[in-house]
Amino acid sequence: MKIDIGTTADGRTISLPLKRANRHGLVTGSTGGGKTVTLQRLAEQFSAAGVPIFASNVKGDLSGIATNCPTQFWDLFGTHGLPIRTSVQAMGSELLARMLKLNDTQEGTLAIAFKKAEDDADFMLTTGDLHFMLIDMADNRESVCQKYGNVTASSINAIRRNLLTLEAQGGDNLFGEPPFDIRDFMATNSAGAGMVNLLHADKLMEAPKLYATFLLWLLTELFRNLPEVGDLDKPKMIFMFDEAHLLFTDAPKNLLQSIERLVRLVRSKGVGVFFVTQSVSDIPDTVLAQLGTKIQHALRAFTPKDQQTIKATAAAFRENRGVDVKRDITTLGVGVAFVSVIDEEGIPTKVEKVSISKPSGQIGAIESLERDVILKASPLRQKYSYASSEGEAAKEFDNRMRQERGLPPLEANGDWPEGTYAAYLPNLTVDAVRRPTRADALRRVASSFLILAGAAGLLYAGTHL
Ligand SMILES: Nc1ncnc2c1ncn2[C@@H]1O[C@H](COP(=O)(O)OP(=O)(O)O)[C@@H](O)[C@H]1O
Ligand SMILES: [Mg+2]
Repeated sequence: MKIDIGTTADGRTISLPLKRANRHGLVTGSTGGGKTVTLQRLAEQFSAAGVPIFASNVKGDLSGIATNCPTQFWDLFGTHGLPIRTSVQAMGSELLARMLKLNDTQEGTLAIAFKKAEDDADFMLTTGDLHFMLIDMADNRESVCQKYGNVTASSINAIRRNLLTLEAQGGDNLFGEPPFDIRDFMATNSAGAGMVNLLHADKLMEAPKLYATFLLWLLTELFRNLPEVGDLDKPKMIFMFDEAHLLFTDAPKNLLQSIERLVRLVRSKGVGVFFVTQSVSDIPDTVLAQLGTKIQHALRAFTPKDQQTIKATAAAFRENRGVDVKRDITTLGVGVAFVSVIDEEGIPTKVEKVSISKPSGQIGAIESLERDVILKASPLRQKYSYASSEGEAAKEFDNRMRQERGLPPLEANGDWPEGTYAAYLPNLTVDAVRRPTRADALRRVASSFLILAGAAGLLYAGTHL
């Protein structure tokens, strides 16, 4: 079984053996060169082969794939897809520290907050819960310092300040009930085609750290939840990471190491990761070394640094006589790319100049109404659009965490104050794009009438003053 990528000028088909798709990949090139269309082509074929896909799609221009593949839309904000939520506790202090852009000291303080939550069985669901925990730590700083080591008021305050920024960016939408189950990505339809899970990420991109950490968390969830499988005939899942440079820009060394390890280890879980970014120089060497398939679209190069990138790009490919990457990379046509894959034997193939085959689905985004229809028909809609009341959500969460840790459930004694969590539940606006109803029309007429009446009243008042 193979994924056909495209054809060479002399008519040979270049394809990636499915069993090597877990050797990961990289799709690069300047904007407009054809990266997204290439991804669509790959995703289509993976889906046809029964492999589920997750793809973050910043511009939303991959959604045309829904015209010929089973597609599920996801959106952190719950407007353009089903919401994906977890708890602060399950996210863990390391990833959250990254999201909050904390320094080492602040990260240490956050780790203590997490430790304390575990010790006190006072688990954190929302960012609001984390605020409470931090306030509590500040109030009882002496005993906290005694038990866990030094915690300063200033680092607590810094975390809370950054938490407010995260909330302002909509990051609090990520935290709530019901919890997202990564296995829901891994579906096939009745015809055996793999589900294409598309993350609508345009708003999320306004907060690059949130975006990158969120995807890193998803990948970690895959790693945590999938069993070790070794080499399979075909991957269990393909994970496509758009704007991947955001993951690496000013990432601290320990994070880079964790990413490199995650990417390396997730292979044996049957997961193939495809990074998408403008240039190979966006990816650290240690990660680059893990990426088997390389698809390089045209690079518009102007600066001396670009010239270096071109050299590096050419050097990363296995040489092929008659294919001059360095010379031709700046003049490649749209939808043409230099390609190298991992062959059946596990060896990188020589670089080829390839015309990427056109996807069979629609190129470009589908209409929002079309997306709405798909969303409404989704079997997962009930599960993820369901919002329990704030108190209930907290109760369900607490008891689940306790159960996981072998603790008895809490008594239903009204310990959870109703109202506390209201602000932290994401808004569920799957119905946001609805057709105006008769009631809407009536309301509009009524409100214009009120405005007119108001204006008339003002006029009347004006003439009588
Ligand atoms: N393989 C292809 N076959 C046909 N048209 C393509 C192909 N690749 C790109 N295109 C055209 O070029 C446009 C830009 O490609 P796109 O994939 O969005 O570029 P990028 O993601 O690199 O910015 C697409 O909208 C499409 O019209
Ligand atoms: Mg694109």
